[in-house]
Amino acid sequence: LNMFLFLLLVLHSKANAQINPALCRYPLGMEDGRIKNDDITASSQWYDTTGPQYARLNREEGDGAWCPAGQLQPSDVQYLQLDLRQLTFLTVVATQGRYARSSGNEFARKYRLDYSRDAHRWLSWKNRYGNEIIMGNVNTYESVVKDLHPPIITRYLRLIPVTDAVHTVCMRIELFGCPWQDGLTAYSAPEGHTMMAPGYPITPLNDSTYDGVLERRRLLGGLGQLTDGVAGQDDFGRVQQYKPWPGYDYVGWRNDSLGPGYVEMEFQFDRRRNFTSMKVHSNNMFTRGVKVFSAVSCVFKAHLISKWDPEAVTFATVLDDRNPSARYVTVPLGRRSGTALRCRFSFADTWMMFSEISFQSGMAPLLLWLPAVAPHPLTTTAGYIYMVKIRKNLEPFTGPRDVSTVLSKTHPPEDGSTSILIGCLVTIILLLVVIIVLILWCQYVCKVLEKAPRRILEEEVTVRLSSSSDTIVLQTPPIPPRDPLDPPYERVFLLDPQYQDPAALGLKLPELSESAEASDCGGGYAEPDITQCTPHQGFQSSVPHYAETDIINLQGVTGSNMYAVPALTVDSLTRKDISAAEVPRQQLVFREKLGEGQFGEVHLCEATGLVEFLGEGAPLPEQDGRAVLVAVKQLRADATCNARNDFLKEIKIMSRLNDPNIIRLLCVCVRSDPLCMVTEYMENGDLNLFLSQREMESTHTHANNIPSVSMADLLHMAVQIASGMKYLASLNFVHRDLATRNCLLDRHLTIKISDFGMSRNLYSSDYYRIQGRAVLPIRWMAWESILLGKFTTASDVWAFGVTLWEIFTLCREQPYSLLTDEQVIENSGEFFRNQGRQIYLSSPPLCPSSLFDLMMCCWRRDIRDRPSFSTDQLESAAAT
Ligand code: ADE
Repeated sequence: LNMFLFLLLVLHSKANAQINPALCRYPLGMEDGRIKNDDITASSQWYDTTGPQYARLNREEGDGAWCPAGQLQPSDVQYLQLDLRQLTFLTVVATQGRYARSSGNEFARKYRLDYSRDAHRWLSWKNRYGNEIIMGNVNTYESVVKDLHPPIITRYLRLIPVTDAVHTVCMRIELFGCPWQDGLTAYSAPEGHTMMAPGYPITPLNDSTYDGVLERRRLLGGLGQLTDGVAGQDDFGRVQQYKPWPGYDYVGWRNDSLGPGYVEMEFQFDRRRNFTSMKVHSNNMFTRGVKVFSAVSCVFKAHLISKWDPEAVTFATVLDDRNPSARYVTVPLGRRSGTALRCRFSFADTWMMFSEISFQSGMAPLLLWLPAVAPHPLTTTAGYIYMVKIRKNLEPFTGPRDVSTVLSKTHPPEDGSTSILIGCLVTIILLLVVIIVLILWCQYVCKVLEKAPRRILEEEVTVRLSSSSDTIVLQTPPIPPRDPLDPPYERVFLLDPQYQDPAALGLKLPELSESAEASDCGGGYAEPDITQCTPHQGFQSSVPHYAETDIINLQGVTGSNMYAVPALTVDSLTRKDISAAEVPRQQLVFREKLGEGQFGEVHLCEATGLVEFLGEGAPLPEQDGRAVLVAVKQLRADATCNARNDFLKEIKIMSRLNDPNIIRLLCVCVRSDPLCMVTEYMENGDLNLFLSQREMESTHTHANNIPSVSMADLLHMAVQIASGMKYLASLNFVHRDLATRNCLLDRHLTIKISDFGMSRNLYSSDYYRIQGRAVLPIRWMAWESILLGKFTTASDVWAFGVTLWEIFTLCREQPYSLLTDEQVIENSGEFFRNQGRQIYLSSPPLCPSSLFDLMMCCWRRDIRDRPSFSTDQLESAAAT
């Protein structure tokens, strides 16, 4: 009966899509030897007896596992590489340590995966949330089975053990999946659009797992959500459990954003094929302006370098205005031959949305890859149990081989297998007869299957293997019952009136900043009198309360949000408050431009006679001869009145600060225009650029001439930033924009915190623009700053956590790079709601776990639960 059910499901899934990830879970042959030793290689091995050929799950050959040479350092990239010999849809990875009949001690606690379809372009696998790290083993003997979400379509795979501390690691593995018979190696399409309809959640319809590149608004050279085997729901906006955002399964385009009235897609295949049909899973929620395409026209080309054959296959869809269900549309391709297709899908309505595209090209029939393992889900009250029976007498699935080999291998099976094969064939024939009767039942089973893996796959599954039995029981932790009153998902919209008026939430807003918006600067530039600027009169009601604060603070000339002092008032801000000395302008000789922003520029200048001018004890940098290099921030002459005010306020605040880890103001020129502030010059520029041009120190780094940093350097940087922030916190200054881009390094790698409104052009994508006016560094902001405009030392602590994260990713990635700005804002709503749906930045691969724990403390929801800027805490986190 199990086999019957299994075949029925496979058949059903074949009728709908090329691959069903819930069923495509067959062992690919590490354990049983179908993957040959020659196809298992490694970057290194410790001894001959721990070579890559010993990386087979549950086998005890050689010294019991593959172990890379030497102890694994946190920065090492050692890998075990497998050639699967054909494109494979990989859904599951199982790992084990080195047991060696109980004498082994080594296992990989974490690992990551790199893959390549052609052995040239290697990509790193990431889960739906952008996490690369997969949690591995906890001892030497248990296998830990991990589902890959999204699955990987690849021929080559590298398993890269990851460690936080220096360890010896050894691994045994098995891979699970099935052949990628589509042969599709890449598709290209216009970038998906975001649906923003009043009264509905923002629905990003991008291809979030696409592994190619985005160039001029087109996705090129990769595969993604259209080939992940997951068909979208009828209601494209329905938020399902474990789906990061509404519309996740669909890639969608808006007719009027594209222009020509169609979406053009190109499909490339591994070799020339005769195409019988293309199946496009398409949404048809016409009530929201989404319809199946009205027609499609495809042209073919014989080879990747040849011309398109102008004779097109065209197909007109029968449009359906009554049934809003999503559906597979089968487009006959008339057995046309080619290595690539270009299809134009015509819009039938405002939107077109696809979740899957598969191709049928007369490939091997179903039975050719009957699995050795037939999984079938059983539910129990304790959660889900998968029972997997290994049928030793059945000729196993010939996974990573080409189709002709598969054919020849399955034809002459062993005796036991023959009868099973015949039995299966008979079953299929019977099935074909009864299939119509069973269609309803089949759909029901499909629904069950669709739900099961999703729930299981998100959990960690630990496998207990008893070597004496061929039965494996994989048990997931029980799923806690859902509170029926708890809505499945609820979003917070920034511009929702409820959140514009935080009083509606019963939460107290902070006092408005002291900043003022001037309607008139008055006066000439020679005597700028900032008190003439009239106080801000209020913004349009649609702008959230806090935005007002930030329009003033963050759009300030130089990001004067830096040291926002609650006690400061516009009236109190006059030039006499500025304690920095006025330097004669002619003493500053321009050398080069360091940065530029909306309201001014930062220049590197040579200052002559500064020692004499400021006095012997002045905190001047080391100098060669009489000239001192300084950074001069200069306000543009046409800057707005607000900008002038903010500039002067920044000067006033900076002139009060005196700490080794805060940029030092040396002198100013405010008697005449352009207004200037002179600060010490930091030779090594900003920390973001500095780290992004470096690699982690390892034994290989010096070979490629890329400068390196050590873990100790990174920790020292973190400690210095914490120390500067501790100083600011002690004065009750709130920075509001702490990030690596705002930390500067001098020639001794001392870090000084600063704030560079003027350099923002370089980092403009780090700021979110509200209604075209205020800019906010939302990816660094605590939830209460985003939603309530509340900036405190505790929100600086949050930003410090993000800055630590940047440091330990070597600034290679923007925080939450997979989320759009709108999704980042929605995520802060999840922090506010605190129902466990908030997304955290994941632990950077190089980051010690104690430090990541500290980051997580910085991102605690309740302000009181966040740590303070204590460097001791950081040092002790680093020490552990
Ligand atoms: N860019 C902006 N300010 C700077 C400074 N003080 N030193 C070096 N580069 C800078």
